[in-house]
Amino acid sequence: MNGQGAEQAAEIAVEDLTPAQAGAELLRLAAMIGRANTAYHGEDAPDLSDADYDALKRRNAAIEARFPDLKRSDSPTNQIGAAAAEGFGKIPHRVRMLSLENAFDESDIADFGKRIRAFLNLDAEAPLRFTAEPKIDGLSLSLRYEQGALVHAATRGDGEVGENVTANALTIGDIPQRIDNAPEVLEVRGEVYMSHADFAALNDRARENGTKTFANPRNAAAGSLRQLDPDITRARPLRFFAYAWGEYSVPLAETQMGAIGRLADLGFSTNPLTRLCHGEAELLAHYRQIEQQRATLGYDIDGVVYKVDDLGLQQRLGLRATTPRWAIAHKFPAELAWTRLEAIDIQVGRTGALSPVARLTPVTVGGVVVSNATLHNEDYIEGRDNAGQPIREGRDIRVGDWVQVYRAGDVIPKIKDVDLSQRPAGAAPYDFPHTCPECGSQAVREPGDSVRRCSGGLVCPAQAIEKLKHFVGRDAFDIEGLGAKQVEMFFVDDLLPIREPADIFRLAARDRANLAKLKNREGFGDRSAANLFAAIEARRVIPLARLIFALGIRHVGEAAANLLALHYGTWATFEAAMTTAEVGQGAAWDDLLSIDGVGAVLAASVVTAFHQPAERAVIDRLAAELTVEPAIRPDVTGSPVAGLTLVFTGTLEKMTRAEAKARAEALGAKVAGSVSAKTDILIAGPGAGSKAKKAAELGVRTIDEDEWIALVSGA
Ligand code: IVH
Repeated sequence: MNGQGAEQAAEIAVEDLTPAQAGAELLRLAAMIGRANTAYHGEDAPDLSDADYDALKRRNAAIEARFPDLKRSDSPTNQIGAAAAEGFGKIPHRVRMLSLENAFDESDIADFGKRIRAFLNLDAEAPLRFTAEPKIDGLSLSLRYEQGALVHAATRGDGEVGENVTANALTIGDIPQRIDNAPEVLEVRGEVYMSHADFAALNDRARENGTKTFANPRNAAAGSLRQLDPDITRARPLRFFAYAWGEYSVPLAETQMGAIGRLADLGFSTNPLTRLCHGEAELLAHYRQIEQQRATLGYDIDGVVYKVDDLGLQQRLGLRATTPRWAIAHKFPAELAWTRLEAIDIQVGRTGALSPVARLTPVTVGGVVVSNATLHNEDYIEGRDNAGQPIREGRDIRVGDWVQVYRAGDVIPKIKDVDLSQRPAGAAPYDFPHTCPECGSQAVREPGDSVRRCSGGLVCPAQAIEKLKHFVGRDAFDIEGLGAKQVEMFFVDDLLPIREPADIFRLAARDRANLAKLKNREGFGDRSAANLFAAIEARRVIPLARLIFALGIRHVGEAAANLLALHYGTWATFEAAMTTAEVGQGAAWDDLLSIDGVGAVLAASVVTAFHQPAERAVIDRLAAELTVEPAIRPDVTGSPVAGLTLVFTGTLEKMTRAEAKARAEALGAKVAGSVSAKTDILIAGPGAGSKAKKAAELGVRTIDEDEWIALVSGA
């Protein structure tokens, strides 16, 4: 609509606006209100009276209420007003929201069954019941009911803390506001999703109105649920399947199948393809049946979830860092498409890895437009795997090639194959660079490593920036208003540079003249500068696991950071242990390796980071700015073994070593591999040898398996 049209729309009463006029009017109002805000908050004199300003905002809100789908992403209603500006409130999950381990083929499922039986000390052939149900491709939601009333709804977030989307959840027809005959406290969990038909209709409307369309139903569902305005959510038909639970005052049932039945009785939608299966063969048969029905279900699924049916066994199997041992997601095979490889770019990551990225002629793969894909490393491009064996029968990949792209679930698209019959004449083998394209340092490939790495360390701007981006990431410091884009801007800033994490926490303390500059910079007003400083201050207090993860040490992902934090408890202990530890020897090294889930490669990487002077200085400067919260160990009040060091030896008959160890750790004990003066209790089964002897010499209390079970039962 041209300027004159917009002026005409400005005269029209809200009730009489057509969608096209409403869209133009929202644009005009956003611009006017934005200008007024700048004038008011900045140095300029306000150009509107308060009454006129309020009238514009009221008109804007009224149009948005009538045409929720036309609401702009830069809508003035989102930007102003304390609650909206802060986005969603946070809700800590009383029981963590987990993710699932993935399986891709039948051998993964066989391993899953074997691991479970081994953990539970069952026969390899022992019968085991599982449930199998579709894995819905949406986003998970936790609904808390107290005395039968919905009190809040929270997204998964990082699994520990989610976003409060209660008002939006209440607009979803499948979500009851009240449930009868329910336990006093019950958290129902499941998946919010959008059907294919509703997704198509939503995009049709968006195209008519000239607003943004969504790439797939899951993005549409997520975008609709995470709306600050519940009226927008209401206008988007979302659905919900219940399949799990969090906290409860009374258990729902004794089996998974029974619990799903209870959820259905309480009024929730549960998936009609949920089946009880006796053994792995029945799981696979049901998988194939669901796979056949996939295209006609009317909503997206990306696999089948298997869960141990007996909730008592689920309890015994317990959890790893972020996934339960008793469930697995059997994913459908990846989606494929062919396209042209236009170029190969090299990206330098936070650990210096040179990663080749394929730039592709855009192609739709499983509903998503793909224009970039990973090529892994130089061997992969040449047609060899890590062991030097040919892949793709040795066919290499060249710029100009016709290549096959695939996507499996959420992962970055990959190049699977190349069609040599389509190779353009003159296409040359790819020449992988031996110097860093960002800083010119040598790019070195260590023997046994498939990756070539820039040797520039923190001198390399790409590594430094990537480390900072990782540092401010969602699972690390998660500083509101300081994302990847802002990090790039501040990194090259002469007045207020952020070159390392500690700089972030010194930002507000710097020269006031510089602060004035920040406020005048693109994207920063008075308010956003103040908000940024407040967000930074809020993160000066940080949980230990997040800090360890945020350091961006190679091989230390979230799960490993959690393990390290739980083992050492405080930053002081962790730092002291890493300072003392020597790679490959000594008590501190052995202690590090005693952590279940920490291997030599990870351990060496952490120890090296603390011994490399430049990297260590960066860590020290950061730590000086922070207050680190000790790791929250599992609630072990009343545990008879909390804080004790235990050693298991000999054969255990009632539970496996793995289960005994997991149970001891869940109760706050440390499990060591060898007996020393620090050992509090040795649990010795039949066949115990040198360890029992040493314990006797040292006067360490020694008990048998039955005494151990008696000790921890009821705890
Ligand atoms: S069970 C303790 N069942 O998949 C396990 N998850 O990749 C909790 N999902 O975060 C999850 N359908 O959002 C479970 N039938 C299903 C599911 C399902 C979809 C999602 C869920 C979870 C993710 C893990």
